[in-house]
Amino acid sequence: MDARDPLRSFRQRFFIPKTKSDSEPVYFCGHSLGLQPKSAQSYLEQELRDWAELGVEGHFHARNPWLPYHRLLADQTAELVGAKSGEVVVMNSLTVNLHLMMISFYEPTASRHKILIESGAFPSDQYAVKSQIRFHGFDPASSLIEIGPREKESCVRDEDLESLIERDGDSIALIMIGGVNYATGQLFDMPRIAEAGRRKGCVVGFDLAHAAGNIPLHLHEWGPDFAVWCSYKYLNGGPGCVAGCFVHERHSKEWALPRFAGWWGHDEKVRFQMKPEFKPMPGAEGWQLSNPPILAMAPLRASMEVFAEAGIERLREKSISLTGYLEFLLQREKSNRFSIVTPQEKHRRGAQLSIRIPEYGRALCKKLTAEGVFGDWREPDTFRVAPVPLYNSYQDVYRFVQSFCAAVR
Ligand SMILES: Cc1ncc(COP(=O)(O)O)c(C=O)c1O
Repeated sequence: MDARDPLRSFRQRFFIPKTKSDSEPVYFCGHSLGLQPKSAQSYLEQELRDWAELGVEGHFHARNPWLPYHRLLADQTAELVGAKSGEVVVMNSLTVNLHLMMISFYEPTASRHKILIESGAFPSDQYAVKSQIRFHGFDPASSLIEIGPREKESCVRDEDLESLIERDGDSIALIMIGGVNYATGQLFDMPRIAEAGRRKGCVVGFDLAHAAGNIPLHLHEWGPDFAVWCSYKYLNGGPGCVAGCFVHERHSKEWALPRFAGWWGHDEKVRFQMKPEFKPMPGAEGWQLSNPPILAMAPLRASMEVFAEAGIERLREKSISLTGYLEFLLQREKSNRFSIVTPQEKHRRGAQLSIRIPEYGRALCKKLTAEGVFGDWREPDTFRVAPVPLYNSYQDVYRFVQSFCAAVR
């Protein structure tokens, strides 16, 4: 399978971390922190050099002038998430962007004040939505709906989510779902959610932390109002890398939307006139606050170049096969010591499989890490692993399962 893999050469474009024993590790942690593209260093060095040689003039005369630098990323990112370029901006970090979006798009009223999330949403999202509810004078006990799986099931059924929106939609102000749930690896039916929300007049937002760079997205066509994601997982932008934000074109000139403003969101043609009245740029750029962190963006540019070359559709094709192979090998074990909680249907998952190990999972995760086999542990009982099509191989999958099964027996 590796010999036939048209994407196999992309592995050479990344640094694979070293293990203590110097053996080649199995790195299945791209859902947490993606690996470093070898070209990242030269992108970063270019900016350091321009800073050293040009100082403040780098804003205008750097090889890639810093003033419009974020646009170099916006266009490639828009392509990757299926958006028009004005709909995407790269800025801040994920949770900050989520708050900025909710300040603009969560406008609760006495009759429509609820936020719908999936139960077991990432804690930062839970804190963010609860704090927004309180900020508007409501109580999460009555304004937050969390949809969970049916009894004895691990993942939410898309039809249950749709029925809930159909039934309670009139009281829901915002539907905020993680496109791929961080714990179970479930990929939600985003077009269906967006459509159901639109029918009932709800605002729809997605947290795409685990979806961006993992599955093909068509945000413009699917039509959520907004989406946010981070760039350090499948996008390989580096630890804490600057995040992404999508605002659908239909809001691009809604000047009356409430927003927390900053000077980088101000109309760039008159930004440096330093006038006191805020006049937002059209599109997602109008939500920018600060001048962008060039040194954090440079490695992300390196990674986006690699994505553009590999192509997200080809990556998805390999990903389905790679994760399917992992599932096949694990199931062949017929072990009652672990079970896979991620949906089996390929259209309901991305690269990640979440393996529930009720008894001694944390110790097992530690043991595997010491052997150079990297997944990660999420309380209370989940071992998350993701073979990433850009840099993982079928042989990695085989080696992972050998080590995992030896440790679990
Ligand atoms: C689904 C999800 N949402 C939000 C976050 C928080 O991201 P940040 O720390 O970049 O705000 C994470 C981080 O892993 C995440 O996985």
